[in-house]
Amino acid sequence: MSQAGVVFVTGGASGIGRAVARRLAGAGSSVVVADQDVRNGNETRDLITAAGGHAMFEEIDVRDRKSIRTAADSAVSQYGRITGLVNCAGIVTMTSLAELSEEEWDLVVDVNLKGTWLVTQEVARDIEVAGGGAVVNISTVEAEVVVSSAGHCQVHYNASKGGVKMLTKALAVELARSSIRVNAVAPGPIATDFVSLEGITAPETLEALRGRLLIPRIGQPEDVASAVSFLLSDESSWITGVHLPVDGGWLTR
Ligand SMILES: NC(=O)c1ccc[n+]([C@@H]2O[C@H](COP(=O)([O-])OP(=O)(O)OC[C@H]3O[C@@H](n4cnc5c(N)ncnc54)[C@H](O)[C@@H]3O)[C@@H](O)[C@H]2O)c1
Repeated sequence: MSQAGVVFVTGGASGIGRAVARRLAGAGSSVVVADQDVRNGNETRDLITAAGGHAMFEEIDVRDRKSIRTAADSAVSQYGRITGLVNCAGIVTMTSLAELSEEEWDLVVDVNLKGTWLVTQEVARDIEVAGGGAVVNISTVEAEVVVSSAGHCQVHYNASKGGVKMLTKALAVELARSSIRVNAVAPGPIATDFVSLEGITAPETLEALRGRLLIPRIGQPEDVASAVSFLLSDESSWITGVHLPVDGGWLTR
């Protein structure tokens, strides 16, 4: 796709997804902000249109096929086609193995992993009709290594995002015949509402983070947005199936 396509962004109501939506709209894309958070989703749309860009908001739950199909159909009737997809909706809960319930496991795995599959299955049909395009999944460095938060791991989150890494490769293989490239971006610690900002900017946490980060600062949503923009654009037309860390060097040592 060229940068000026039509991109469906799940999780576009806040944090990384909002930064992605604003960056793409600023480069000329029409953006479909798709999220379960109606208030913030509308706010992202308004921020884009106030800046002169093109955006619409659609309420979806990434676990619900009907809501995804309705949103994709609305996008096609509004903009005529969909050429790109960013799977950014995600959640984490901070629970130890001993305390993790089946309900909590199902919630996190369903939103992060099943949701990425379900949205891609639906929206890829539209991208194929448009003649091809690109998909970018938002993974995490925690698909590669285990980060022990609050004295324990998040086994459900680690498992879900490890699944997203392999799902990215499998989708890249299957969707190649439809001229759709599929890649993932794996952020390190990024300043959003996802994790408590106070938590990650506390002096002792910052000290621990700096022990791993080669570029000694917390990442910003825009750091991720620029990588997503590259992977959606024709600048990356020979890249598919990769899991690209955007992590200040977190995974290097
Ligand atoms: N912030 C970080 O440090 C960090 C690091 C690595 C990876 N990530 C990943 O980045 C992605 C975005 O996280 P963020 O930091 O912007 O957090 P965020 O909480 O600001 O954004 C997540 C968005 O997903 C939406 N969402 C959640 N469940 C949904 C559902 N069932 N259906 C539709 N929308 C839903 C939320 O409403 C929200 O707008 C997540 O997939 C997360 O795993 C974040």
